[in-house]
Amino acid sequence: MKRRILLVIGMVLMIGVMAVAQGKIIIGHRGAAGYLPEETLAGYAFGYALGADYLEPDLVLTKDARFICLHDIYLEPTTDVEQVFPDRHRSDGHWYAADFTLAEIKTLSVHERCKPDGTPYFPDRFPEGKSKFEVATFVEMIELVQGLNKSTGRDVGIYPELKRPSWHASQGLPMEKKLLDVLAKYGYDKPGAKIFIQCFEPASLQKLRQLGTKIPLIQLISANWSYAGMWTKRGLDQISAYASGIGPSKKIVENNPQFVNWAHERGLVVHPYVFRRDELPAKYASLEDEMKQFYFTYDVDGLFTDFVDVAARVLGR
Ligand code: G3P
Ligand code: CA
Repeated sequence: MKRRILLVIGMVLMIGVMAVAQGKIIIGHRGAAGYLPEETLAGYAFGYALGADYLEPDLVLTKDARFICLHDIYLEPTTDVEQVFPDRHRSDGHWYAADFTLAEIKTLSVHERCKPDGTPYFPDRFPEGKSKFEVATFVEMIELVQGLNKSTGRDVGIYPELKRPSWHASQGLPMEKKLLDVLAKYGYDKPGAKIFIQCFEPASLQKLRQLGTKIPLIQLISANWSYAGMWTKRGLDQISAYASGIGPSKKIVENNPQFVNWAHERGLVVHPYVFRRDELPAKYASLEDEMKQFYFTYDVDGLFTDFVDVAARVLGR
């Protein structure tokens, strides 16, 4: 009898979690960065298989104006460019993707993110120098996701981020129209297409709107003080004039959980970043606990994570 009561309570709790979890999304941050080198096709495929609803590529442009999946405007944190093209850095010591053609970039190998001294950022992740990964183009990433959608019957979306668009424009490489052209070619301009576009620069998102896109735009909000104006109700009022949602640093939400309600009151969805087992804030005992707090107590609509499988478990999938 006691066991049956416990079983019923367990089932009721599980149904409760599933009801609240409905509609909440998981964004595979840079693919499945907790398990495979970031922004690679292998990482995107793994993030897909682990249950992501959306996969995130960060986008920069090559010298010949092709979008590649890369977090930094520099190549050296995640590739062997220093060994392959030792003399091709600028005077500031960085190897800029915008100084290399796609054909040149395709000769590079991608590795786990390293610090300037060559040591890995996350020592317990995929081992340095093992297996073989190359820099993916955005088109390859899209074709991978759409191919998997066809072969699995799922409808996983994409969540591209334009990286440093004002800097790219200063190099003669404007990003916004080019992005919309690529997306239209692959059907992401159609109503209901599973896509968000994200950026830290409001002017770039406003330009995308002016170009006529109806794709939902997400204003990224850093915890850096230069973004403090966006942490306010007034800041959110301004964002709601051009964006459908916000992607705040999770620190902003942690410092002021009301921030999520303020955004919801303005019709903005909230997708904080970034949730990592190997970068867990001291107040949480586990990544599961942190995600539960954000999904169910702070009531965010989704989150960016390097560990898609953990989020899937938390959402009861
Ligand atoms: O795009 C959300 C999050 O990825 C922003 O931070 O530095 O990982 O691109 P970052
Ligand atoms: Ca990003």
